[in-house]
Amino acid sequence: MLKPEQVTQFQQQGYLVVDDFISPHQRHTLMQHAADLIEAFEPPEKRSIFTTDEQERSSDDYFLKSANNVSFFFEEKAIDADGNFTVAKQRSINKIGHAQHALDPVYKAMVHALNFNALGMELGIEKPVAVQSMHIFKQPSIGGEVGLHQDSTFLYTQPKSCIGFWLALEDATVENGCLQAIPGGHTIALKQRFRLAKDGGTTFETLDDSPWPEHALEMLEVSAGTLIILHGQLPHYSAANTSSRSRQAFTLHLVDDACDYPKDNWLQPIRSAP
Ligand code: FE2
Repeated sequence: MLKPEQVTQFQQQGYLVVDDFISPHQRHTLMQHAADLIEAFEPPEKRSIFTTDEQERSSDDYFLKSANNVSFFFEEKAIDADGNFTVAKQRSINKIGHAQHALDPVYKAMVHALNFNALGMELGIEKPVAVQSMHIFKQPSIGGEVGLHQDSTFLYTQPKSCIGFWLALEDATVENGCLQAIPGGHTIALKQRFRLAKDGGTTFETLDDSPWPEHALEMLEVSAGTLIILHGQLPHYSAANTSSRSRQAFTLHLVDDACDYPKDNWLQPIRSAP
């Protein structure tokens, strides 16, 4: 699926931009399906999930269970201090995750049709296995910032093998919070590992406490339909969406089943799709 020069480019810069990877029909299928899922979603009674310990614990629990579910996460600014929506339900969702590639027939069929496993193998994964998917909305005006991070922090294997596939369902621009990445930054050591804590919940373990290099982040402005492939150690970031347009994206992450997948990774994936 990739030309040799594209594989070389991925190896050198840690990411690869593939134009026109999916059709407008495929993009609209995913966006309409997400809208239908949100329509059917009944928001929980307790929505002020940032205030008390008990609420934090249930939030943790919901997050951990999302590894094997199709779960809905709100934009922080979508809910006020009293737990009321500040926007319509369709505009309130930050993302849907993290197992729709295995559990939801529409996402599952799309992931199969787009053959990410073949891409993963061309980029060096011996036995590709999809462990995480997300439909990201980056809602107009309130879509939150995602801090600089490496995906292998969250999907750690030994040796490291994670590759992320980021599909633009809508145009991604500086104004609506496109991806930004450090070209060649995949050679930087993995900084942190996000894992299950011994006493419950999750924790960040520091692996390398040197500061991020002073490289300028490159703006990855892309048209709808473009695929960006991200090396698991590539530092990337996206700013808050201050524009009036959403910036929807679908992401899938593969790891290599030939590598060791630790039992204390936060995400314990479904091993075989039903
Ligand atoms: Fe990421």
